[in-house]
Amino acid sequence: MKHTKFSTIFSIHLAISLILFIPPIQSTLSHTSLLEQICRQSPHYHLCIMTLRSSINHRSKEDIVGFARLTLEIVNANASITLQHIQKGNIQTRDPQQKRALEDCLASYNMIVNVHLREALNAMNKGDFKVVKQRAYAAGVEAESCDSKFKSSSIAPLRDTNRYVQNLCSITMSIVNRLLWTNQPASI
Ligand SMILES: *[C@@H]1O[C@H](CO)[C@@H](O)[C@H](O)[C@H]1NC(C)=O
Repeated sequence: MKHTKFSTIFSIHLAISLILFIPPIQSTLSHTSLLEQICRQSPHYHLCIMTLRSSINHRSKEDIVGFARLTLEIVNANASITLQHIQKGNIQTRDPQQKRALEDCLASYNMIVNVHLREALNAMNKGDFKVVKQRAYAAGVEAESCDSKFKSSSIAPLRDTNRYVQNLCSITMSIVNRLLWTNQPASI
């Protein structure tokens, strides 16, 4: 009787131990909570979770550096195509004021893609997170500048994109802040 009880308790204990120490479950949990942690500290929780969670599966690196790089790549993809759209004249308007606004936005998106995000990605590869933060900030300012050109008109063709670029840039900055604070060595 006593022996049976003991062995039952022992096997329950063993089962629990096995469940708790199966490595794949543990590592999945820790990745999820890293993403959660990062996004909770960012200024746009839902956008952060949605953007990073959907792209995460294609990547092997799920550390803070990997998340920062991924965010930059995603905003860069959006801004690059936006730049092409403006260049090709896909965004059309007859209003002369809007035409001028679009010319300013062309200049802004040219800076965002060919200067700031390019430099940010270069700096990311070198582990120079201070520069990453500066360039992400500068890219956000350019998107805001483009948006302000449409303030007086009723239609703002790039509003969603400008918001998106600004928000992803501030998410990038908040992720990079973690790297600057913890002084974690860059994994390249
Ligand atoms: C960029 O993102 C915004 C916001 O989600 C979206 O409205 C826009 O269509 C995107 N642009 C491109 C070229 O994917």
